[in-house]
Amino acid sequence: MEITILESHEDLSRQAAATILRQLEAKKDMLLCAATGDTPARTYELMAQEYRHRPDRFSDLRVLKLDEWGGLPMTDPGSCENYLQTRLLSQLDINDSRFLSFRSDPADPQEECRRIQGQLSQAGPIDCCLLGLGLNGHIGFNEPAPFLQPGCHIARLSTTTLRHTMVAEAKRQPTYGLTLGMADILQAGMILILISGSIKKDIARKFLSKQVTPELPASFLWLHANVICLLDKEAAEACDIQGNK
Ligand code: GLP
Repeated sequence: MEITILESHEDLSRQAAATILRQLEAKKDMLLCAATGDTPARTYELMAQEYRHRPDRFSDLRVLKLDEWGGLPMTDPGSCENYLQTRLLSQLDINDSRFLSFRSDPADPQEECRRIQGQLSQAGPIDCCLLGLGLNGHIGFNEPAPFLQPGCHIARLSTTTLRHTMVAEAKRQPTYGLTLGMADILQAGMILILISGSIKKDIARKFLSKQVTPELPASFLWLHANVICLLDKEAAEACDIQGNK
């Protein structure tokens, strides 16, 4: 794992955007798996800025939604759909033919997981998987548990996860999560995980302790050969690392 500590969230976002753009340079029709939440928001803004200068760079980019709050209308301001449509897809002019996405309100959630798994097996594997780190160590909605699930599945959301700012403002509370599984993530060509803010310092320390356990799903990233982990100084405060180890 290549670990870098940056001075600020702004620096972290600049480095993340530059890393994604470099990948895109190498593969124009790259499949980017996109997390939501506060951490990657600025990265997406910087990508949108780049699009305004060089729209051609993004003409074949494909995006896959990492996870979704189940039980919310697609247009709910708290949905991952609304987040990605507003911050990424509309900004980069990516239409539905280049976007793979769980519905937030499927009639049959199991069937929705099968649908996305099928689409991913056609379109995948993921080239670049952009992840945030949940306060409890989750990635996507792969929540801490006695065992983890390899494929797309319905997740039981923990109390911590249900307190996330995205849904704190939602009109309706989600009742479950829809998420890519651990194998879907670990099959990505490269994984970029962003960790920001002092609120993440304890979980960042545990994650970087290299103890691989389903109680901290992100720790499975230690089993992948091509992971870049960017932390800002606040998130790295409790870690015993200097970066680049
Ligand atoms: C939510 C999202 C994840 C995100 C995580 C961290 O659970 N579904 O995709 O990575 O939270 O969010 P934040 O970056 O806001 O801390």
